[in-house]
Amino acid sequence: MTSEILIIGGGVIGLSVARELHKQGARGIAVIERGACGLEASWAAGGMLGPQAETDEAGIFFDVCSNSRDMYPEFAAGLLDETGIDVELDRTGTLYLALSEADAARLGERFSWQAKAGLQVERLSADDVRRAEPFVSPDVLGGLLFANDWQVENRRLLDALKTYAKTNGILLIGNSEVEHLDVESNAVIGAVANGERFNADHVVLTTGAWTSLIKIGVADMPFKVEPVRGQMVVLHTAKRLFQHVIYSPGGYLVPRRDGRLLAGSTSEKAGFDHAVTDDAAAGIRRMANLIAPSTAGLATVDHWSGLRPFAFDGLPIIGGIDGIDGLTIATAHYRNGILLAPITAKMVAKHVVDNAAIEPAFSPDRFKLRNVTGI
Ligand code: GLY
Repeated sequence: MTSEILIIGGGVIGLSVARELHKQGARGIAVIERGACGLEASWAAGGMLGPQAETDEAGIFFDVCSNSRDMYPEFAAGLLDETGIDVELDRTGTLYLALSEADAARLGERFSWQAKAGLQVERLSADDVRRAEPFVSPDVLGGLLFANDWQVENRRLLDALKTYAKTNGILLIGNSEVEHLDVESNAVIGAVANGERFNADHVVLTTGAWTSLIKIGVADMPFKVEPVRGQMVVLHTAKRLFQHVIYSPGGYLVPRRDGRLLAGSTSEKAGFDHAVTDDAAAGIRRMANLIAPSTAGLATVDHWSGLRPFAFDGLPIIGGIDGIDGLTIATAHYRNGILLAPITAKMVAKHVVDNAAIEPAFSPDRFKLRNVTGI
């Protein structure tokens, strides 16, 4: 099979890149996926768009995360217009709770750097928190309100991106596990999956936790991406209990429009094992109970896991590899795949279409420069 652009990996990053490339005029785009598109980490995610709740310091990573969050209103509106699918972007905001003195100190530090950076962050007393969210624990000591940290229904987002692909001539190929990229004279010219050859002018690798399993010709990937399993438990209430996404240093609760309450998560090194465990479910439920004792009476209606793609410095890997033409990489988004999808798509599409430079902090070559591959 021959395409102009072959995207390997059909999660939120690969599908967003496909859409953006198409919008920028690229044609002959194919997305190839080892299973079915959109059923791995992007499906398992909580959909929080929370750079202020999740990032510990100012800097380039925070800037890129918050710029990507700011792209969401346009991203969601564009997808609604293009596909008729509402991705349920919810801009109510995120409440970060202190449930102990140690939490309160941590929140104090977060407030300081964010207020200094001129970000939208409000300090709330315990009474303010309970007025905003009456089901939060009476033991809460206070909180921070991040009005600009939002959430999206990530599974609807995946549906919208797949629908965009299908209605715009982007080929989605499932059940094709790429073993290696085809290389000729230092240029990637395609890939081989299940023994079948896929030729392309340009290859984009968006394979998340599975990236290091793919060889470039006969060589190993020059960096390592590891799976970090996150388990999520879902509780159900007839009516939505919370309006905000609720964070605490121990975990988070994400209230969905349909009454589901997502509670997460674990961070486990378990290889490629997707198993869910009773211990993890019990730990997550304890965390939920600390945030809101009334969750103790709710039934667990679902429990799943996903494999976050982690590079050893925790940053995404986006860009080309020096000395190899025809290849762009966008992986290792770790906890921020949904959040970073719109900006990653723009970066990659501009790189592929116009050869635009990508922020060097994310370059795959940073591992070589530091002589640390993490392998
Ligand atoms: N972004 C939340 C998580 O990965 O658990």
